[in-house]
Amino acid sequence: VKLAVLLLSWMRCSTLSLAASEFTRKDFPEDFVFGAGTSAFQYEGAWAEDGKTASIWDTFTHEGWTGGNADVASNGYHKYKDDIKLMNDIGLEGYRLSISWPRLLPSGRRPVNAKGVEYYNNVIDELVKYGIQPHLTMHHLDVPQVLQDEYGGWLSPKVIDDFKELADVCFEEFGDRVSYWTTINEPNINTLASFDYGFFPPRRCSPPYGVNCTGGNSTVEPYIVMHNSLLAHSAVVELYRTKYQAVQKGKIGINVYTLWFKPLTNSSEDAMATQRALDFVYGWIFNPLLFGDYPEAMKKSAGSKIPSFTKSQSLQVKGSYDFIGINYYFALFVANDPTVYETGLRDASEDMFAKFTAYKDVTPVKRILPPNNITNDFESFQEMLLYIKNNYGNPPIYIQENGYGLGVVDTMNDVGRISYLGGFIGSILDAIRNGSDLRGYFVWAFVDVYELLSVYTARFGLYHVNFDSNELERAPKLSAHWYKNFLKHGSSIV
Ligand code: NOJ
Repeated sequence: VKLAVLLLSWMRCSTLSLAASEFTRKDFPEDFVFGAGTSAFQYEGAWAEDGKTASIWDTFTHEGWTGGNADVASNGYHKYKDDIKLMNDIGLEGYRLSISWPRLLPSGRRPVNAKGVEYYNNVIDELVKYGIQPHLTMHHLDVPQVLQDEYGGWLSPKVIDDFKELADVCFEEFGDRVSYWTTINEPNINTLASFDYGFFPPRRCSPPYGVNCTGGNSTVEPYIVMHNSLLAHSAVVELYRTKYQAVQKGKIGINVYTLWFKPLTNSSEDAMATQRALDFVYGWIFNPLLFGDYPEAMKKSAGSKIPSFTKSQSLQVKGSYDFIGINYYFALFVANDPTVYETGLRDASEDMFAKFTAYKDVTPVKRILPPNNITNDFESFQEMLLYIKNNYGNPPIYIQENGYGLGVVDTMNDVGRISYLGGFIGSILDAIRNGSDLRGYFVWAFVDVYELLSVYTARFGLYHVNFDSNELERAPKLSAHWYKNFLKHGSSIV
């Protein structure tokens, strides 16, 4: 086994060829899409306007858990027109946005809120007017509070029908103009952060792994939540395929939060621990999508905690994508350290993911964040793309998020962001040349938005938002000019 792991990691490195040193937009396929994104909760504000009800994130922030809220956020609900003008100014080819479920369906299901439909229609029409492709995510964290109260949100299989209803409304209302659909953003993070470690709402977890959690059973809930997410996702894909796709001719997929893992030392124990971490992060979603079941190793270690797919569920989940969306920010080092779970929360420099109990079942490893949460580690990203290509049948991939913001100083002269984004874009070109089926790249985020736990201190935007003024003025950071030069003026990235 050790030998196989070593051989595998050698093969991964040896097939990489890093070529792109200077390139322009023209070096990418014409139909490759360059964009940027936001999400409803983090961008729109207007949290209780025009019939919208609370999401679990509204409740969570109002309870004071993050020391701020997104009641106004970047005020996209009122400023979308100006923002789309700015998108056009810098030559954005696509915009990734999400639908607020409680804005569209305030009671979690029909009746539809006409004002919600009107808002998204306006946004989509405005994008189409400028020739900017809308890439629409149906669910990005903001479960309607009413559904959380009624049956526990993603914890109950009842969510499957309600999510399908949300999707049905989206296809019906917007499908004539939207060709790229993503069902759920980062189901793996929702699962772990909300139902295992408890730092996202509804704050369910089991001590000692959680911080301030409100109860739950973290040894089984993450598996149930992921299971429901996969079933809801695939039910929506089936709905699209049977009822809409032939006419609307769009594509549909799901999104996965990815990290790359590197062994901390060159011991074979660390190499095996790294492989376990990869099996867990990628296999939990990719295996069901590709092969119709969870990875064998995961089923063995999680035992009866992990639900089984029935034959028909497995058939429904298998192949339920036209593309897979990836969010990628950084790589982590991995050491084989089974004791890491025995001490509860350790120092903040250590990756919190290491504490997830679901990881514990599968992979007793210690993960260490690179300094400052940021790596311009483009080779890791390449290795990750190659891993997906080689292990999961080279699916069409959109990089739906990649960005630079955590722990970063708020500056207009954001040269750090430019070298981060430029390096990743270069890696994408390399990966395309190495045979990966990459279709698009979206910077997170188009403007500064409410950042989940850091509120307004983490500024991922290409455009700066003045959160100290009621006007919330936008101003282009250096990176916005740089992206514009690349997209609109044919400038090269070196
Ligand atoms: C992942 C999430 O999808 C998004 O909501 C968040 O703001 C960014 N990454 C940055 O942390």
